[in-house]
Amino acid sequence: MPAPPPGIADGLTNYGDPRFAAYLRRSFALSMGYSRRMLSKPIIGITWTASGFNNCHRGVPELIEAVKRGVLAAGGLPLDFPVTSLGEVFLNPTSMMFRNLMAMDVEEMIRAQPMDAVVLIGGCDKTLPALVMGAASAGKPAILLATGPMMTGRYQGERLGACTDCRRFWGRYRAGELSDEAIDTVEGRLATTAGTCAVMGTASTMAILCETMGLMLPGTAAIPAVHADRLRAAEASGTAAMELAFSGRTLDTVITQASVDNAVRVLLAIGGSTNAVIHLAAIAGRLGLKVDLKALNRVSDATPVLVDLKPTGQGYMEDFFNAGGVGALLRRLEAHLDLGALTITGETLGEQLPPAGEWIDGEIVRPLDKPIRADGGLVALYGNLAPNGAILKRAAADASLFEKTARVVVFEGLRDLAERIDSPDLDVEPEDALVLRNAGPRACGMPEAGYIPIPTKLARRGVKDMLRLSDARMSGTAYGTIVLHISPEAAAGGPLARIETGDRIRISVAERRLDLLVEDAVLQAREAKMQAMAGERGWAKLYRDHVLQAEEGCDLDFLRSAAG
Ligand code: FES
Ligand code: MG
Repeated sequence: MPAPPPGIADGLTNYGDPRFAAYLRRSFALSMGYSRRMLSKPIIGITWTASGFNNCHRGVPELIEAVKRGVLAAGGLPLDFPVTSLGEVFLNPTSMMFRNLMAMDVEEMIRAQPMDAVVLIGGCDKTLPALVMGAASAGKPAILLATGPMMTGRYQGERLGACTDCRRFWGRYRAGELSDEAIDTVEGRLATTAGTCAVMGTASTMAILCETMGLMLPGTAAIPAVHADRLRAAEASGTAAMELAFSGRTLDTVITQASVDNAVRVLLAIGGSTNAVIHLAAIAGRLGLKVDLKALNRVSDATPVLVDLKPTGQGYMEDFFNAGGVGALLRRLEAHLDLGALTITGETLGEQLPPAGEWIDGEIVRPLDKPIRADGGLVALYGNLAPNGAILKRAAADASLFEKTARVVVFEGLRDLAERIDSPDLDVEPEDALVLRNAGPRACGMPEAGYIPIPTKLARRGVKDMLRLSDARMSGTAYGTIVLHISPEAAAGGPLARIETGDRIRISVAERRLDLLVEDAVLQAREAKMQAMAGERGWAKLYRDHVLQAEEGCDLDFLRSAAG
């Protein structure tokens, strides 16, 4: 039996007299009513990420109770502590701007407070990435627990799940197909339980990738938020954290190039969110690892999409759970994965896979020979418009728009887009490409504005999709032929800053190209239209001055491994 970890006397406050510090700390801890017996046990921190502004984390208090049960039963003392709570839809200008703030908060609070291991609870889009980035940098033993996805609602016999159906119905409403009363009814039925968005959006994607990387207990990513198994997973995570307190296993030892590469494979095979490319790059960057977009392109053609969930397919996360979840998927994808990758339990990924045949569903999680599509969900594009890359979720796009040249209609930024997109005077045709610039990380925090709406005048003519390009992100729940994360962004002086309405661009998904068909000399002679974020103080200033581009995960430059 290894020696017990230090407990409440871990990392003592520096008064120049360690015995005095321990005495003082114990005396204040005793004021919380713990017995000396409890204070002598290993301490398991638990992140409190619930708030009144975070619907997705409504179940966190109940999960914390269950984690505590697991810790107590294993002989530890569980202590929860608050960290930043990021409720996706309630944050201005975009939750993306606060992922790094949360990651710093998580890192510093884990390091500063006396805990021997930590259970990281989270789910809503930016939370799992922020927790992993912070805890990996802090270097203390840690395990993730996802909040789990929402259940679906119903409208006229149809299932509804946030938020692919949110967009689908809104599109129909904009096109005049739905009445005010109907859209009101839909609004009340899209998000009906605690938990994260019910489709393969960013939250689901990141939970699945984190399980793939071995950062949470196997079989737990997809359990619905309101399912009793979710509480049992929480209890088991508490117990597992006690084992970590003794073994000292940390996230930075579990996350390796092999586990990152496995995550990229799975991302392609689930038709997952484009945002995951950014979050994975940020996580990898914390540890001196890389998400190589050119490597992603190489494996993309050889990785079939096997999971049939919206927005690329039909099902919801509750179906994925019932079909065996991540274990069933990894078993089917086994030939494409490095099964020797270590997980947080100390077993390899291969050792944790369920026995073949324990799952029988062949529709939601397809066998390799019956994929949803034969090639991977995402590709990276390069060219003179995107020297450092751009991302297209081809699984959620219209393939008839993949090989073409188009005239561009340029919007200067979010305000210009909002002011002109629905104008009857907008000079736009269905075969044009809509371009939005100054929506990248340095311009405005990189909001999910890449899902440029179809101009109303075209929507009313029945146009459902158009080629759209930007330096913004888009929601993982969205659908369309939308090129995102163009890098460098306009605000960093990328070529996007010099494109003009009437220019022609050429896209070729087959060749992985995105080019602006304008002479270099002409481009250089133009004025660069760059708008960086305002703010001379506080977080906005720190963020704007230090944020990296999309291919480096939009982390802050001084938080990457080289700096740390
Ligand atoms: Fe939280 Fe979608 S709003 S996961
Ligand atoms: Mg989202």
